[in-house]
Amino acid sequence: MAADRTSPTGAASSTGGGGKDIAVIGSSNMDLITYITRMPSEGETVEAPDFAMGFGGKGANQAVSASRLGSRVLMLTRVGNDLFAQSTIENYRRNGIDTDLVLPTQAASGVAPIFVDEESRNSILIVKGANALLSPQDVRRAEAQIAACRLIVLQLEIPLETVYEAVALGKRHSIPVLLNPAPAQPDLELEKVRDCQYIVPNESELSLLTGMPVDSLDDVRNAAAVLLEVGIANVIVTLGSRGALWMTRTEDRLIPGVAVEARDTTGAGDAFIGCFSHFLVSTGDTAASLEMANRYSADSVTKRGTQSSYASKEEFEEILRG
Ligand code: RIB
Repeated sequence: MAADRTSPTGAASSTGGGGKDIAVIGSSNMDLITYITRMPSEGETVEAPDFAMGFGGKGANQAVSASRLGSRVLMLTRVGNDLFAQSTIENYRRNGIDTDLVLPTQAASGVAPIFVDEESRNSILIVKGANALLSPQDVRRAEAQIAACRLIVLQLEIPLETVYEAVALGKRHSIPVLLNPAPAQPDLELEKVRDCQYIVPNESELSLLTGMPVDSLDDVRNAAAVLLEVGIANVIVTLGSRGALWMTRTEDRLIPGVAVEARDTTGAGDAFIGCFSHFLVSTGDTAASLEMANRYSADSVTKRGTQSSYASKEEFEEILRG
């Protein structure tokens, strides 16, 4: 897993001594996970067998998984002015993430009540709180630090204008941008994210983005082709346990998934993105990085919780050996 300093685009790294590998610009949440036997109907009270609280938010999860694997990560995010904020900042530090741009805000921290059923399916509510206040201006103020990174990673739990600003910053500085368009946002303007080097939707996000069906692998290919037409260089569609489909103008490759017994799939998509980003920056090899991401996210679904299910570098090396 030695990290060379080749950029994912093949260009020489623009990172100076103080630069990081990956800038994640995104959300921080406190996950409130209730394990249920079934959802209550209206007016009903149902006992649930278990509850756990953990650190989450798609941005935070992706940053933590990349950092646990050994990438140097800069996190631009907003936390609130409540009990959750300080522990969130400490969690970033414990995970070796640069917190210079974790911005305390006069608002509530983001929270995510999550329900996981006995089949390991989850339903998630998101209360954005401070995440909704991460602004394009925050991105502009952090331009120098972000421009010293080698990959920018974005999701959609922050305002779209902020996402567009980060894509533009990446273009200005020739830094590849990876967009995970999650949660699905019907208002996302594809033209404004066409300069992303990578877009990584799951099937339902792909369908929403393109207005096309994704019932078969051929449907998925046709829909992914629309994103290539817009100008995005690499489309990676995550297919759950079936793996991931990687398409460019010249590639069409299905990277098969890894069969495991799932206990809790919460945050598995973020584990995939964080791991993929880490290996992409380390090796520049997209296909090999996708294989790693499949294995890392498969391991995460065998454990409960969000970040609590992400393996460290040493644990992942052990999994690869085993
Ligand atoms: O992708 C899982 C994440 O979605 C959870 O951590 C939750 O906070 C929501 O952002």
